[in-house]
Amino acid sequence: MLNFIAALVVAYLIGSVSFAVVVSRFSGLADPRTYGSKNPGATNVLRSGNKKAAILTLLGDALKGTLAVALAFHFQDQLGLTRSDIAWVGLAAFIGHLYPVFFKFEGGKGVATALGVLIGLNWALGLATAVTWVVIAYFFRYSSLAALIASLFAVFYNVLLFGINGQAVAVAIMSALLIYRHKQNIANLIAGKESKIGQKSK
Ligand code: G3P
Repeated sequence: MLNFIAALVVAYLIGSVSFAVVVSRFSGLADPRTYGSKNPGATNVLRSGNKKAAILTLLGDALKGTLAVALAFHFQDQLGLTRSDIAWVGLAAFIGHLYPVFFKFEGGKGVATALGVLIGLNWALGLATAVTWVVIAYFFRYSSLAALIASLFAVFYNVLLFGINGQAVAVAIMSALLIYRHKQNIANLIAGKESKIGQKSK
């Protein structure tokens, strides 16, 4: 039990590193929490016009989720973790991104980190979710809508691949939190005010 708690804490700390803020600082860009949607995430960093910084943010935020899960798999036997425990470790990294201890608990919406966690849990699960995001984003041009739909499909894909168990609960909580963090985007979508991918202002 202590090992599991330690793994959750380490994952939470890894997830708490906001790459949108770090990459923007190193690229000489404004803090993404001060413009656009004010969200520290790749979509909002793209609104700065710097595609490279947006891609680095996407990669960093996704890889930290993958890293937390990969570390848990690597030390699974030593720590005595089950597969479900590892899914909860991934959820802890995701929660770190949403409520980061290093940034006054004001984090992002978790799309890239959720994807990274899913890839870490199972590459096919991650790939299917990423493809869903790309298809919706391609046709509708809304990053948020693509994330909302992909997160619902992720729950479905996970049940198809692994059935209903502790991992299914962790993935469902991740999806529910992601949707909750998109409440402003949902209101904007309904009101027709959501900005499209790459559009500079809302
Ligand atoms: O990655 C978050 C995305 O789904 C929405 O971001 O900046 O448009 O609120 P944003």
